[in-house]
Amino acid sequence: MIELRQVSKSYGEKTVVDKVNLTIEKGEFVTILGTSGSGKTTILKMMNRLLEPSEGQILFENQDICHLNPVDLRRQIGYVVQQIGLFPHMTVAENIATVPKLLGWDKERIEARIVELLALIQLPAQDYAKRYPKDLSGGQQQRVGVARALAANPDVMLFDEPFGAIDAITRSDLQVQLQRIHQSLTDKTFVFITHDIYEAFKLGTKVIIMNQGKICQYDTPKAILNNPGNGFVEKLITTARQQEGLLEMAYD
Ligand SMILES: Nc1ncnc2c1ncn2[C@@H]1O[C@H](COP(=O)(O)OP(=O)(O)O)[C@@H](O)[C@H]1O
Ligand SMILES: [Mg+2]
Repeated sequence: MIELRQVSKSYGEKTVVDKVNLTIEKGEFVTILGTSGSGKTTILKMMNRLLEPSEGQILFENQDICHLNPVDLRRQIGYVVQQIGLFPHMTVAENIATVPKLLGWDKERIEARIVELLALIQLPAQDYAKRYPKDLSGGQQQRVGVARALAANPDVMLFDEPFGAIDAITRSDLQVQLQRIHQSLTDKTFVFITHDIYEAFKLGTKVIIMNQGKICQYDTPKAILNNPGNGFVEKLITTARQQEGLLEMAYD
């Protein structure tokens, strides 16, 4: 679905993504885990041409994306970020309808799509369609953000720490919901950035671990846990296990 070949991004002397090779298969839920500044957001933004690589090639269904029109490309790629950015003066329904309207869908098709998506994110249309973003909780707003990104049925969804600003309990709910959404939509490819190791391993069918602009390891959660690729990955896992150990102590 997505392939990166020797992709680098530099700002002046500073290389922030360093000769990355990566293949993401259709239907995967790939999580990208890494410390702050490791190049996660830069990689994601290069996938939908919000940023151009300094070197290398990015392929979307075997086509070099530098030959695709950025606007068309972005319509095939949903994008959800932490600062949801719902339009405050528009209702939930109007927010979800933004891209379908741009694409010139007729009214009935748009209305049916809104009902379908609100059911998918478990905010029934009869209760939520006419509300404004300010009348929703943070978690509900984030779900509407997901529905809006899904509206035109993109093949790929990119998520950049979408639950970063949400409390732990709601966050755990949202994780379960997003996993269910991915499973209920066949062949949708999700790429999801997080700096939370639990989130990365819980959600990912595969996990990418990044450090200083490079991919340290890319494998299933199980394979990484059983066989950390290098010292950095090992340290990450050990630290997480120690934290878990602390929690268990608290409940003894
Ligand atoms: N426009 C820019 N100019 C210079 N450096 C940048 C720019 N954008 C990002 N960077 C740097 O690139 C590195 C990677 O950033 P980013 O991809 O946002 O990291 P992450 O999402 O993993 O936290 C950081 O060190 C950041 O400071
Ligand atoms: Mg980032």
